[in-house]
Amino acid sequence: MYDLIVLGGGPAGYNAAERAAHSGMKTLVIEQRALGGVCLNEGCIPTKTLLYSAKIYDYAKNSEQYGVKFTGAAIDHAAVVDRKERVVKMLVTGVASRLKKAGVEVVTERGTILGRSKDGFTVKAGAKEYTGKKLLICTGSSAAVPPIPGLREALESGFAMTNREILDLRRIPEHLVVIGGGVIGLEMASYFNSVGSKVTVIEMLDHIAGATDSEISKILYKNYVKKGVNFLLSAKVTAVGANSVSYEAGGKTETLGADAVLVSIGRRPNTEGIGLENIGVLTERGAIVTDEYCRTSVSGVWAAGDVNGKSMLAHTAYREGEVAVNNMRGGRDRVNYSSIPAVIYTNPEVASVGETGESVKAKGIDAKVESVTLKYSGRYVAENEGGDGIVKLIVDTDHRRVIGVHMIGSYASEIIYGAAMMVDREMRVEQVQKLVFPHPTVCEVIRDAMFMI
Ligand code: NAI
Repeated sequence: MYDLIVLGGGPAGYNAAERAAHSGMKTLVIEQRALGGVCLNEGCIPTKTLLYSAKIYDYAKNSEQYGVKFTGAAIDHAAVVDRKERVVKMLVTGVASRLKKAGVEVVTERGTILGRSKDGFTVKAGAKEYTGKKLLICTGSSAAVPPIPGLREALESGFAMTNREILDLRRIPEHLVVIGGGVIGLEMASYFNSVGSKVTVIEMLDHIAGATDSEISKILYKNYVKKGVNFLLSAKVTAVGANSVSYEAGGKTETLGADAVLVSIGRRPNTEGIGLENIGVLTERGAIVTDEYCRTSVSGVWAAGDVNGKSMLAHTAYREGEVAVNNMRGGRDRVNYSSIPAVIYTNPEVASVGETGESVKAKGIDAKVESVTLKYSGRYVAENEGGDGIVKLIVDTDHRRVIGVHMIGSYASEIIYGAAMMVDREMRVEQVQKLVFPHPTVCEVIRDAMFMI
């Protein structure tokens, strides 16, 4: 008998389990594949490992403009993938040892919820049944595979791939067609463009990077086009052949030859076949319905991470898992979904938090918007020949609170947490003006922007 059974050992599950065990709860994690989930095994971490190698290669290729002559720089893609595997292995082992140290038990099986009794919830994993007083569902998400004719067959043959398979690809495709110009599509387009593939991104919308502020998305687009990535916007993929992709744009159907295809058109919560119906957990459009306290519709059952379909980011998952544990222990903790930062690890990096130029208009929020060039930062100019990065600040007119910060440029991924704190703490412009930022840094442009709005 456990105090808590956690179904799924990704960022939501492993972090929550560690927190729960530290607080004295007898905790079991049931994970069917590897600890660390999509993030560690086939998402965030392997992608960042590949992108770091691409960044070094890009530096080598472009070093001359910084007065450094480099000859013979070459990419060994198979070695990059080997290193990625070592990085993943090390981190997965790290998660396992942290859980062991905390006293969490781990079962490597697929778990199915069987039902509820007076003792709690019973979950079957392999041949065994386990009972927990409380249940935390963290089963994550999987790549969405739309019903495009030929796509299933292409995935089976290996011509088409999702984020899972492309990270293990040991060759550099001559022409990679990416279906979907969202986060995964752009990060992988960035890698394969850097290492020498011809890359074509087919995107249904008239812009890339989804809900990213449109000014930032346009700058990113320009940077990608300059690097040689081809975009087909307002274009919908209609069929995938044995070595081709067909799409419809402007009423016409065209076909492109390709030797690899990445499908990155979004993710679906993993809610099928885990026995949710046996205890009556409510789902909506395939996602578990949760509130900001991470409660589900069933008392004693909590859900965290991609499975609730809300934010689908590993860092949101960490926080949701913690919130669930804090609340099941009698606290009253909530997730503030309005101050969660988001990053696209392209080169240049994109990072954002809060309202965008578009969302304030859509919501009718009276706001001031100011974009400031990163060229105000001496460090940025020193390190970025021809860089066109910006910081964009969104402030509500009534209270002059910082409600949105968006950045494109170097270190954006590492800087954004400071902006997220401003948004979360509802800081006013005049308060941020009184803070001292280190110099010379790229982040000090955020402070400059506070004096321009
Ligand atoms: P996404 O939702 O970011 O982008 C999917 C794109 O595909 C959209 O722009 C959509 O308009 C387009 N699309 C849909 N159907 C299409 C079709 N038939 N033809 C052409 N375009 C089509 O989804 P993505 O990139 O698969 O990422 C999934 C999730 O993973 C995201 O929710 C993201 O939060 C998460 N993620 C986060 C990362 C990060 O934080 N750096 C990195 C990678 C993924």
